[in-house]
Amino acid sequence: MAKAFDVVVVGGGPGGYIAAIRAAQLGLKTACIDDAATTDGKPALGGTCTNVGCIPSKALLQSSENYEHAGHQFAEHGIDVKGLSVDIARMLARKDKVVKQNNDGIVFLFKKNKVEFFHGRGSFVKTGGDGVEIKVTGKAAETLLAKHAIIATGSNPRALPGADFDEKQILSNTGALAIGDVPKRLGVIGAGVVGLEMGSVWRRLGSEVTILEALPDFLGAVDTQIAKEAAKVFAKQGLGIHTGVKITKVTVKKTVVVDYTDRAGTAQSATFDKLIVSIGRVANTAGLEAAAIGVKLDERGFVGVDDHCRTNVANVWAIGDVVRGPMLAHKAEEEGVAVAERIAGHHAHVDFNTVPWVIYTSPEIAWVGKTEQQLKAAGVEFRAGVFPFMANGRARALGDTTGMVKMLADAKTDRILGVHIIGPMASELIAEAVVAMEFGASSEDIALICHAHPSLSEAMKEAALAVDKRTLNL
Ligand code: FAD
Ligand code: NAI
Repeated sequence: MAKAFDVVVVGGGPGGYIAAIRAAQLGLKTACIDDAATTDGKPALGGTCTNVGCIPSKALLQSSENYEHAGHQFAEHGIDVKGLSVDIARMLARKDKVVKQNNDGIVFLFKKNKVEFFHGRGSFVKTGGDGVEIKVTGKAAETLLAKHAIIATGSNPRALPGADFDEKQILSNTGALAIGDVPKRLGVIGAGVVGLEMGSVWRRLGSEVTILEALPDFLGAVDTQIAKEAAKVFAKQGLGIHTGVKITKVTVKKTVVVDYTDRAGTAQSATFDKLIVSIGRVANTAGLEAAAIGVKLDERGFVGVDDHCRTNVANVWAIGDVVRGPMLAHKAEEEGVAVAERIAGHHAHVDFNTVPWVIYTSPEIAWVGKTEQQLKAAGVEFRAGVFPFMANGRARALGDTTGMVKMLADAKTDRILGVHIIGPMASELIAEAVVAMEFGASSEDIALICHAHPSLSEAMKEAALAVDKRTLNL
């Protein structure tokens, strides 16, 4: 006999587990199915983000940055460190501990909110008057009946044709987060978010890192001025970034040999001890049997949804990486909450224009809204204000004055259209811009607000003042 629920969520990543919690909070009888497991077979709730994405990458970014600071920046503060060394095994164990804390946290949240969890793989069987029938295989073999089903099955790393992931020499994000010894020569294909973050980790720990990027421009989706600054800083740090390359062959022996043509079209070859392939991700619908209930995928394999995350089948919804839009944990979460609210009969809205992006390199890069090049292409008249961290007192005290805050505001209405930051704590600073844009603020609104001194946030106020050409500290 099938177990009946108001809502069954397939996938326990940030989209799925948050949707399940919110649905349960709204009084709906809710279940969540997730198949991820720890090495000893226990549930590993939290999806890509918790297990092999956001959380472990930030743990390693922090550890490697601490190491770099101890080696290169402490001396300036009068702190001498002798005999500095790094224990990678301990660093990875700390990362695993942080991941486990997050896994366990979600199990606790499910219990607290009375979400029934099924550890196994979910696949659709049929849909009809009684609801959607979902089979769970694995530890928790069950059949569930759902009035509403939410697909939150996430994404998988895209492999380079002819170079499958073996996670020993050719690494996806999973292998890149678990390298046991610092590789002498580390190759990275793709100068996107994963490539830059993982490349930064292993460079700080001692690898010679070469990043090969297909597109001619570096960080094409980022505001050009910020991307140019980033290219300069990363080159100075020693990340060897080559754009406009075409990979022709990858040969795995004791080493990994990558043949490619450079931006001038000249044939090149590079030899690496390990190769990270980070060329984007594909929707994960394998084994879901979406066709069994008639759910349509789009031409790229994503589950087709409207603006409200409805699929073409009544009462079947889809959220997060498996649908269109940015592959970001907080975007998945917002969609999850909105869908739970809609199922409960409430109004819900996700503002895709104010989804922030962060690249957790050092300096961090963060932005929200439109870039200068997008505004120009759309023919929108704007005023730009830029303020460098070099002129910010707190940045000087921190010893971290790289970068700037750039604000773009409508030339007529002064409404903020985009904010772009490269610099210390950009991931935290961008929140002010998100709030401002969500409330339809003008650059003058930010300029009129009292910001604590000395703080990095004063750079946001100064960038707003710069829109009106009246900075105070520059
Ligand atoms: P996922 O997190 O992929 O979760 C899907 C879950 O469903 C998985 O547990 C999967 O095993 C399970 N599943 C799939 N099919 C089935 C099935 N049939 N039955 C049962 N279970 C199933 N985003 C950020 O916002 N900030 C970051 O700092 C960040 N860092 C990242 C770093 C890396 C290295 C990577 C790879 C990604 C990062 N991301 C980051 C992106 C973020 O991880 C994803 O956007 C987010 O995890 C998507 O959430 P989701 O719930 O849609 O899917
Ligand atoms: P990405 O889309 O960020 O970058 C992929 C890069 O690879 C692009 O620059 C692309 O031009 C390049 N590329 C594609 N094919 C190539 C080829 N054949 N040869 C050379 N270069 C090629 O994808 P990435 O880095 O794999 O990350 C996947 C997603 O995960 C991101 O888009 C992001 O949504 C998410 N993520 C988010 C993070 C964050 O929020 N801080 C951190 C890491 C990942």
